[in-house]
Amino acid sequence: METNLVLEQPVYKMSTFEFLWKIFHNPLDALTDLANEQGDIARIKLRKRDLFLLSHPSFIEEVLVRQADNFVKGPSLQRARIILGEGLLTSEGDEHLAQRRTLQPAFHRHKMEEYLPLMNENALAHIANWQNGERVDMSEGMMRLTLNIALWSFFGGAPKGAVEQVSVSMKTLVRLFPLAQMPLPESARSLFPSFKEAKTSLNEVTEALLHNPQNEHAKRALVHILKENHQDQFTDEQIHAHALTFLLAGHETTALLLAWCWDMLAHNPMAQSILQAEVDSVLGDRLPTPEDIQKLPYTRAVVNETLRMRPPAWAMGREALRDCEIGGQFIPAGSTVVMSQWVTHHDARFYYEPLHFRPERWFDLDGASTPRYSFFPFGGGSRVCIGEHFAMTEVVAVLAVMAQRWQISPAQRGLAKPNPSITLRPHKNIKVIVTRRAYGERVS
Ligand code: HEM
Repeated sequence: METNLVLEQPVYKMSTFEFLWKIFHNPLDALTDLANEQGDIARIKLRKRDLFLLSHPSFIEEVLVRQADNFVKGPSLQRARIILGEGLLTSEGDEHLAQRRTLQPAFHRHKMEEYLPLMNENALAHIANWQNGERVDMSEGMMRLTLNIALWSFFGGAPKGAVEQVSVSMKTLVRLFPLAQMPLPESARSLFPSFKEAKTSLNEVTEALLHNPQNEHAKRALVHILKENHQDQFTDEQIHAHALTFLLAGHETTALLLAWCWDMLAHNPMAQSILQAEVDSVLGDRLPTPEDIQKLPYTRAVVNETLRMRPPAWAMGREALRDCEIGGQFIPAGSTVVMSQWVTHHDARFYYEPLHFRPERWFDLDGASTPRYSFFPFGGGSRVCIGEHFAMTEVVAVLAVMAQRWQISPAQRGLAKPNPSITLRPHKNIKVIVTRRAYGERVS
């Protein structure tokens, strides 16, 4: 694949201040403009270090796979330690590898057989309250649904009040996310009481989840692996950090993906009809089994196309430990390297009509024109998302269960505008109108 590379290009004409201003106001456009102006490796001189935006799949692969040993997580994820502590998302090196090996069995494909019934049951319970013709807030609803699923799957149950407490704290943290990103001393952050309160509240829920009496579900859940490895491998703080990581990472991105899927389907009625027809013919009035999840290719294509156009993780950063070279470009030690799912997933070299929702493209893509890392919604290499199969199973199952029973129409004109915060959220909550399907009356 040819790259669009200008070697030893002049440093970006924009001043650092201008770039930061643009990034602050509209990061998606700022990164897209940078890639359009400079090509597959763009370079910005910041005060102390260089920042490189790598947009070509082969350069992304260099960082995530081939030269992964030379990169650690970028400054923003390092600062996530303020909230998450030293969990799987934030740890590095041998420590990370050992933790990952221990936790991996909870995410093995065969574990999906245990998780899927919980996903189905929670999806059914969630839609049981919908009224025909009602206006439903999908952003809020999917957040609660995926949080319930995460609580049941990873902790064996959803204690009273936990969903409310986590939802409220998450909203505060997302609102104050820019504060968490600033390189401030911990004492300065305490000046914002709501930040401190949200952190305390999440810590309380996590402790409550860890000390919940172990029910039958919990004996097979992730919480059990954590407790089993107490002392041997994990300290109290690490167990807490892992539990909090799975509580937050395990529901937020998936909820956003589901809400974005419904936004796309509501505004693309033809795609919704094809998806309904597939679900009706494969499942009839049954709930999906793990085998069914693989037999819903159009539903999966809808999920992939939504991940392409609205990637919940819209950019990832790494820091170079030593001097290195990527695509002929010298990258000095200490540089920050950014790879943006938003930029690469919208590249017309890999996706025709990149601004349009075309689930069918996933049937035509061939490896030659769409290299592996032209699509990396879950990252890649040894730090690839541990919850990828869990999330894909959950999203396909929830879409199928809901589409069997309800028709979703838009309650707003046009697609929701993306807002790149810690994750890619809609500017305003996604609202839809739900109508009971004639077919759905038979399967409810
Ligand atoms: C649509 C849903 C999801 C998306 C788009 C997503 C995206 C990502 C991405 C891009 C990364 C890599 C970050 C980096 O390398 O800098 C990641 C890592 C991670 N994700 Fe997810 N994720 C999703 C769902 C989940 C779920 C359901 C869980 C929990 C069960 C989870 C837990 C994690 C953890 C613990 C890591 C760190 C893995 C490691 O470094 O070893 N994610 N995720």
